[in-house]
Amino acid sequence: MAVFVAESLIVSLRACLARPAIARSPFQRVAAAVIVALAMFATAPDARADAAVIRKYELQKQGSGYRLVATTAPRPKAKADEVLVRVRAVSLNRRDIMVLNGTYGAGDVSGRIPLSDGAGEVIAVGERVTRFKPGDRVAGTFFTRWIEGKATPDALSSARGGDVDGMLAEAIVAHEASLVHIPEHLSFEEAATLPCAGLTAWNALFTRGKLQPGDFVLLEGTGGVSMFGLQFAVAADARAIITSSSDSKLTRARALGAHGAINYVSNPDWHLEVRELTGGTGVDHVLEVGGRDTLPKALASLAIGGHVALIGGLSGFDAQVPVGALMGRTAAVSGIYVGSRADFEAMNAFIAEHKLRPVIDRTFAFEDAAAAYEYMDSGSHFGKVVITL
Ligand SMILES: NC(=O)c1ccc[n+]([C@@H]2O[C@H](COP(=O)([O-])OP(=O)(O)OC[C@H]3O[C@@H](n4cnc5c(N)ncnc54)[C@H](OP(=O)(O)O)[C@@H]3O)[C@@H](O)[C@H]2O)c1
Repeated sequence: MAVFVAESLIVSLRACLARPAIARSPFQRVAAAVIVALAMFATAPDARADAAVIRKYELQKQGSGYRLVATTAPRPKAKADEVLVRVRAVSLNRRDIMVLNGTYGAGDVSGRIPLSDGAGEVIAVGERVTRFKPGDRVAGTFFTRWIEGKATPDALSSARGGDVDGMLAEAIVAHEASLVHIPEHLSFEEAATLPCAGLTAWNALFTRGKLQPGDFVLLEGTGGVSMFGLQFAVAADARAIITSSSDSKLTRARALGAHGAINYVSNPDWHLEVRELTGGTGVDHVLEVGGRDTLPKALASLAIGGHVALIGGLSGFDAQVPVGALMGRTAAVSGIYVGSRADFEAMNAFIAEHKLRPVIDRTFAFEDAAAAYEYMDSGSHFGKVVITL
């Protein structure tokens, strides 16, 4: 990219210096050259799409975890059922930190390309491919072999960035069954946030939760899953109550349509305020991402007949299941594990219909992937952290 920018700059500098009519003073000419170069760069075809060698990251063993290693490889070739995708953006999930730290339980991932979530453009297809053509804008599915219906053991052992290679590479080949078209109004960066966090929130609220207008939804913290939960709930005319450790994040969540916003640090008994905000009846849905420390309070916030989507363990995965509290509220409990390709396509239709735009906190360059991991790990983000390629 740096070479391409430099080339553009030299070409436009020469052109501007040769044409004093464009700009009179030397300063004006150099400024004009920079502007022309940036415009050339912005409109140029993707210089990396044809590269014979691609840049990528892989995980290499270090202590009990892994380290990120930047490397190169020959550009992969699509077999008959495969699609060659020029990846343009990837996003991080909490799971990716766990994979890096060796705490996810994905087995030995040495040599594997990290990050499950990415979006890009199709640059070539194998001769048997029917779902895609060059130029299509696509995202990878989190599970490469969960197409629809109930998950199978095989489907659940096909997760990108863990069981199989992920997306942090300039080009990847993928079986055509493991890709979806992305909504037209989304950038590659926005679409790259959908496969795990977006689909998990979708599955929890709609596929399993059967969300209805007017329902109360509890969201814990302002990370990736919760922010999608907020946007989906608001778009579906449900009433979202969100917690955060940060007042400024709560202000931003209110601006996105949150019905209630509670600081769980300054108000450790936040479940009482949740109940109050529902007029005493409790919430109909919980997207339970907090785990050990939040589950008891989430259940104390639950309405009779409410739905608890068990999703995460930000405070630990060793939560006790309070059988009495669940029975007493005739609660429905679902274990959520991202979702199928069919769920992904249904979610994309909803996102397109409501023109939703995922919340991206910060975007990092490919070279700064390690900094993106550190930023994600810090918990400072609001929504999603993205890397562009
Ligand atoms: N089952 C699945 O399919 C699935 C899919 C995706 C994610 N997950 C899991 O769901 C969890 C969330 O994932 P994510 O990618 O959305 O994470 P994330 O973006 O890293 O979320 C981090 C945010 O969560 C909030 N948080 C942290 N600890 C908390 C606590 N003890 N109580 C309440 N909020 C807390 C903080 O928000 P504030 O800064 O606002 O306080 C923090 O910034 C993780 O455990 C992840 O492994 C599971």
